[in-house]
Amino acid sequence: MADLSTSYMGLKLRNPVIVSSSDLTRTVSGIKKCEDAGAGAVVLKSIFEEQFLIDGDIPKSDYSIHPEALDYMRSGSLLEYAPHNLIQLIEVAKQSVDIPIIASINCQTPSLWPRFARQIQDAGADGLELNVSFHPISLAIPGAEYEDRHLEILRSVKREVSIPISVKLKSQITSVSHLGQQLAESGCDAIVLFNWFLEPDIDVETLKTRSHIGKANFFHSLRWVGLLSGRVECDVASSGGIKISEDVVKQILAGASGVQVCTLFYQKGLGEIQNLLKGLQDWMDRHEYERVDDFKGELSFRHQELMFKDLGEASAYFRAQYLKAYSKK
Ligand SMILES: Cc1cc2nc3c(=O)[nH]c(=O)nc-3n(C[C@H](O)[C@H](O)[C@H](O)COP(=O)(O)O)c2cc1C
Repeated sequence: MADLSTSYMGLKLRNPVIVSSSDLTRTVSGIKKCEDAGAGAVVLKSIFEEQFLIDGDIPKSDYSIHPEALDYMRSGSLLEYAPHNLIQLIEVAKQSVDIPIIASINCQTPSLWPRFARQIQDAGADGLELNVSFHPISLAIPGAEYEDRHLEILRSVKREVSIPISVKLKSQITSVSHLGQQLAESGCDAIVLFNWFLEPDIDVETLKTRSHIGKANFFHSLRWVGLLSGRVECDVASSGGIKISEDVVKQILAGASGVQVCTLFYQKGLGEIQNLLKGLQDWMDRHEYERVDDFKGELSFRHQELMFKDLGEASAYFRAQYLKAYSKK
């Protein structure tokens, strides 16, 4: 029977299916359920910058926030997941489960990233995912400046901790390849492609704006996993749109070292982990692959390019227009 164990950002995983950062992983019992259901690892719910305010961790001069918002955070459910509680969560979860626990933070204020990363490492987390997201809303700041911030954050965190660090990117990065290369050169252990966000909407009756959960684009993730893996000196993980075991196979063939899954488990429950794993195992047995590494990246752009296997096929990763697809017939 095929061996599903693998390595992701230097961590040993019993299989490549990772429960991605979400409310599924914000409590010890949630993490335990993920382990019992068969997950290879979990990424904890992100701590967001606003939540540091609950702990009074940001000097007022450092941050401007509406006072009412602060009151709301101090009184509401965010308190349950304030930074001091995350540290406790990691400590208790480490006693309760054997699978790797990857913490996740999203900060805006430069000093908080490294400071909190150190506390997370001291609590025993096996790794840390930096959930970096800036919406480029400024009319004055060019794209390169936003992209450089990823590197500054990564470097400042790497200086403070020795646990493996991944960076989870948003999908609207101008040059994923260039940023990926620079992240890898700056010591990033894995790049996660991609985060998915709330999208804006407008209620035309109440004339108010509102948010709704966006829909991940599996193929967008597949494109960039395929284009980056093997070309940058770090692991690449997929995040977004995994629904069936074939999707897991595709992402690993494209070069993913881990596949992060969230919405599927919300919709159909953590029992889906076994379906993903069984399908992966069956596929490997059918294709006579003994280990995940035996086919990881087999259909990455880099591998196909090197093998001169079929550059026509490899071009699927970068061809954006319909010319070929339609002219063939
Ligand atoms: C309810 C919910 C909460 C989430 N919270 C976080 C979070 O705290 N940090 C983060 O990096 N991603 C968060 N995500 C994004 C997921 O980790 C994942 O990247 C995204 O949903 C795409 O994967 P999927 O198609 O498998 O859901 C959240 C997603 C959902 C649906």
